[in-house]
Amino acid sequence: MNVSEYLLNKYNVPVPRYTSYPPANHFSDEFVAENYKELIVKSNQENPELVAFYIHIPFCDQICFYCGCNAIKMRQSHAVDEYVAMIKKEILMVSKNIDKNRKVSQIHYGGGTPNAIEARYLKEINDLLFNEFSLIDHPEVAIECNPALLTYEYMDELFQAGFNRFSFGIQDFDEEVLKDVNRKPSALPVKQLVSYVKEHDSSMAVNLDFIYGLPGQTVDGFSETIKKAIEVRPDRLVTFSYAHVPWMKENQKILDKKGLPSADEKMSMFLAAYDLLKKAGYISIGLDHYALPEDELCVAQSNHQLHRNFQGYCTKRTTGQVYAVGVSGISQLSGGYAQNTKDLKVYLKQISQDVFPIEKGYIVSVEEKLIRMVINELMCNKQVVWAIVAKAFGVSTGFVKQTISYNEDILKGFKDDELVEYAEDMLKITELGTLFIRNIVASFDPKLTSGAKRYSKSL
Ligand SMILES: C[S@@+](CC[C@H](N)C(=O)[O-])C[C@H]1O[C@@H](n2cnc3c(N)ncnc32)[C@H](O)[C@@H]1O
Ligand code: SF4
Repeated sequence: MNVSEYLLNKYNVPVPRYTSYPPANHFSDEFVAENYKELIVKSNQENPELVAFYIHIPFCDQICFYCGCNAIKMRQSHAVDEYVAMIKKEILMVSKNIDKNRKVSQIHYGGGTPNAIEARYLKEINDLLFNEFSLIDHPEVAIECNPALLTYEYMDELFQAGFNRFSFGIQDFDEEVLKDVNRKPSALPVKQLVSYVKEHDSSMAVNLDFIYGLPGQTVDGFSETIKKAIEVRPDRLVTFSYAHVPWMKENQKILDKKGLPSADEKMSMFLAAYDLLKKAGYISIGLDHYALPEDELCVAQSNHQLHRNFQGYCTKRTTGQVYAVGVSGISQLSGGYAQNTKDLKVYLKQISQDVFPIEKGYIVSVEEKLIRMVINELMCNKQVVWAIVAKAFGVSTGFVKQTISYNEDILKGFKDDELVEYAEDMLKITELGTLFIRNIVASFDPKLTSGAKRYSKSL
């Protein structure tokens, strides 16, 4: 795919990532524990879909300089025993308020590095969830792993604990690039690690994470990394654009000094990866995810049944409201969002006192739910039919367009740049438009007032 410099200059501006609507920087600290409890209870009546759990394990053996996650360097003083005990307690606090006719469809461990702690802890947490709730057939039990810390024995323990989806953070196969960002390479050959999972059970799925835009990365170097990834042939793969937000993440400041690739170079890395992966038979999902054609994400995308949450893309089959536990976890319920404190000590203390450790949150209005549906449909399924949104909310298509500040002049600009196609009844994102999807959906976000918040750039 070719992208002109004109488009790059025009659209490489700061915009939200829209992993939630409204974006997390609109969450308010006036939202407290009691509001979260009310939201959970309400979630049993309002769209009582399936239940998904997100479990945040914040610990890492060392902090990568680029990291934008809520990660804590593990020290002796960090009592994992105590943290896991509080995670289990929080699950029970949530569980008490959930209607037990609802089934669990998804459990996702993120971090930090969930595999930085002993696997027996993860098994204990899974066992508790499996005992507390009934499960759908073939639920997703997923874990994000840093492969620098993995052994085959540890993988066996993860299989035993019930995990069936594995995401390995590779970032780049070039060890020099990794060294520069304070990261160790995979301890095991990645191809063998992936085969090990598939040989254990061919229905298990493996994802590999990569990042482009780090110091020392070049188009040629990143292309080599992607070629190696293609040889490994994971079911899924993500190429994350490095989000540089040093005003929020102290650890990223050092990368300013090391020198970051330009927007042009970054775009070329993305496009080189895109072309290589497409040629190798991968289908692009949303903005930066790829999957093999037989993967359920591809099937869901072609049936317009793709969905996503803070944890990434998923199919509508397994999509549930997300109840997050652990420090900094964000619950994504139909009626709103609730984020736990990022402070480990505060988290431990409040859970031990039976208090939901809520730092901030947001109650979503009906209008915002409508905007959220439009944004999600575009980000996942790359099209929106106005009558479907209108039907979901029992309103007219005129009301839908008014709520999202539909502006034909703005859309015409996107159409002239060949990013969208539209008619009276629908809007579709083109293949080129996928690259600027954040800019397109931002035009339907009435909350986006210029300069009020800071975001990473769109590319
Ligand atoms: C929680 S980590 C994955 C598990 C494990 N901690 C690891 O690093 O392998 C989630 C993913 O977020 C991505 N990531 C982290 N910081 C990022 C940033 N600043 N910009 C873009 N992606 C980032 C990385 O690709 C990483 O694999
Ligand atoms: S990228 Fe992963 S391993 Fe590195 S600091 Fe962040 S969470 Fe930890």
